[in-house]
Amino acid sequence: MSRFTGKTAIISGGAEGIGFSIAQAVGKQGMNVVIGDIDTDQLEQARAKLEAQGIAVLAVPMDVTRQDQWQAVAEQAKTRFGNVHMLVNNAGVTGTPCAIEQMDEKDWRWVLDVNLMGVIYGTAAIVPLIKEHGEGGWLINVASMAGMVGVAYGGPYTATKVAVVGMSESWHAEFKPHNIQVSVLCPGFVKTRINQSQRNKHAEYRKEESAEGESDGNVSALADHLQSVIDAGLAPEIVGERMVEAIGAGELYIFTHPNYRKVTQARYKAIDEAFERSAASPLLQHMLNEEIASFS
Ligand SMILES: NC(=O)c1ccc[n+]([C@@H]2O[C@H](COP(=O)([O-])OP(=O)(O)OC[C@H]3O[C@@H](n4cnc5c(N)ncnc54)[C@H](O)[C@@H]3O)[C@@H](O)[C@H]2O)c1
Repeated sequence: MSRFTGKTAIISGGAEGIGFSIAQAVGKQGMNVVIGDIDTDQLEQARAKLEAQGIAVLAVPMDVTRQDQWQAVAEQAKTRFGNVHMLVNNAGVTGTPCAIEQMDEKDWRWVLDVNLMGVIYGTAAIVPLIKEHGEGGWLINVASMAGMVGVAYGGPYTATKVAVVGMSESWHAEFKPHNIQVSVLCPGFVKTRINQSQRNKHAEYRKEESAEGESDGNVSALADHLQSVIDAGLAPEIVGERMVEAIGAGELYIFTHPNYRKVTQARYKAIDEAFERSAASPLLQHMLNEEIASFS
């Protein structure tokens, strides 16, 4: 019996890819699993696969961009399993990598609504359920290495993933008194269908058919490159197991690609060097020894 046994997890985007692997991994630990997803066919297949593995599972069709649907997930989870202990905000989409001039409002909105508002709505709907029973629990947000370093031609995706890392840091401090452990999972490339996110794009974010496919050669080359690195990516099954391992160790930042360490190290070095230059500026000498205001 583990500390997860008999507790309940809600996982958005749990029908396939990383979300499904997380459902399997926490289910193996004896958790009851609620998977929510916009893709009802995949969701049903996932439910059957989890059930066949002896995992207690509830599948709820849902769109993370709809607050009312999060409320429905919360109610159904409580009705079926009672107390809720874990939320994994996993559902996410990539958008189409392209230059800023080629992106319009719909391109931005879709990615912001799913990857950012979806996480906000999920947290707002489910964390109060975790608080209310007083047993504590877990909030895990799935960001990306794109939350650690900006990705060219991926402005919307980067914006949301950096925001998810930042919100996780805020919530880590905020939810600590409630014994809710917050983690942010930042994978590198994982072999899933993330590069075909368009398959689940809502009608309201779709453009004229001609405009949807429109791209210049650079963009197509970028999309091809992205596909090849995703195809060569980490097996999703490992990501779910790694998440369980890391939350067991109480990690705030969860990494799955240790070889990417040099990427964040280069970023921190550049930031540190920028501070060094500010410390050398004649304009700022009076501030060098000033006390800093506490952030938390
Ligand atoms: N695959 C990677 O290389 C990679 C790398 C870093 C981070 N991530 C992140 O991992 C998470 C999962 O992605 P994945 O790689 O498993 O992709 P995936 O496309 O295989 O799975 C995403 C799941 O989310 C669901 N989904 C999409 N829009 C939804 C909505 N509006 N409401 C509810 N469900 C919705 C999809 O139907 C799908 O089941 C995402 O947040 C993604 O940004 C993926």
